Amino acid sequence: MIRSRITGIGFHVPPRVVTNHDLEQMMDTTDTWIVERTGIRERHFVEGDVGSSDLGIEAARKALADAGRTPADVDFVIFATTTADWMFPGNGVIVQEKLGLGTVGALDVRNACSGFLYSLSVADAFVRMGQYRCVLVIGAEVQSTGLDLRTEGRDMAVLFGDGAGAAVVEPSTDESGILSWSLHSEGQFARELWCEAPSSRVPGRVTQEMLDAGRQLPRMNGRQVFKNATTRFPEVIHEVLAKAGHTLDEVALVVPHQANQRIGDAVVQRLGVPPEKVFQNVQRYGNTTAASIPIALTEARDAGLVKKGDLVVLAAFGAGFAWAGTAMRW
Ligand code: COA
Repeated sequence: MIRSRITGIGFHVPPRVVTNHDLEQMMDTTDTWIVERTGIRERHFVEGDVGSSDLGIEAARKALADAGRTPADVDFVIFATTTADWMFPGNGVIVQEKLGLGTVGALDVRNACSGFLYSLSVADAFVRMGQYRCVLVIGAEVQSTGLDLRTEGRDMAVLFGDGAGAAVVEPSTDESGILSWSLHSEGQFARELWCEAPSSRVPGRVTQEMLDAGRQLPRMNGRQVFKNATTRFPEVIHEVLAKAGHTLDEVALVVPHQANQRIGDAVVQRLGVPPEKVFQNVQRYGNTTAASIPIALTEARDAGLVKKGDLVVLAAFGAGFAWAGTAMRW
């Protein structure tokens, strides 16, 4: 059977770096609180009129170059984001137009922090069934414009950053490729990490009262997210390894969604692996939602931590709750 593999990856973050000390000037918080609770030291925020499609397009260009492909080779686009430029259409068509991809199909996925892995699973299925041969998968977010940067919003505002990552998925011609998947959701927790408005339930989509109450901004029950994430990450990592017929000792690197260093550390502890087996770069980017896994994977690969032939596991957990994992031979 044909396998699909990632043939190119890349990422892009906007140039403006916002440190914890910068946040101290905007709200009642401290670098110490943020570092102790989250490990995050800085993140990138867009400036001016920049949308998640713009960041995604830059990441896509780098991933295509890395794969040795041009826009003419792409035959399908999948764009994962919770922060699309517009309510509709989704960002996929913006990429199609700006990269000049002919009239290829473009699919948008809004599974938040697990959006990149859900998108990758669709790309994998298309390639394995022979429907497409070169699928561009993008995860990109502009979270900063939806954060309340006053003290009222500090619990969320210190966690998130902007950025984009992308991957090119093609048929494998050797032993490399995607080996297994696990995709899960649990909607009873939908309101534990969500953004309520604009909403089709509301005439006019949003009311002044909702705006005044900040219901157009993301909200979170941090403790509930933490508790579930630290259980689901190890669980899904074990699941995908079992499905692929491999064990944790054979894994070169686990690249989890970058939510919080304390979550990453808990994953290390619960898996019982050395810390260097679980890649973490949340310290420098914050949580970039759908972009975090391709950003982390690119940095890990560029640092020599993911080499040809390595067994790699990617895992994500986030709003929904939705979570996902995949094992692959690099
Ligand atoms: N700076 C300073 N103080 C802050 C703060 C900030 N940025 N944010 C919250 N606080 C305060 C709270 O108001 C609270 O004060 P109080 O005790 O006077 O009421 C205190 O710090 C403790 O808040 P609490 O929410 O209990 O902290 P916590 O230890 O649970 O840590 C998180 C909060 C958000 C860091 C933690 O719950 C977490 O990491 N959750 C997972 C979040 C996540 O990763 N979400 C995305 C997943 S995809």
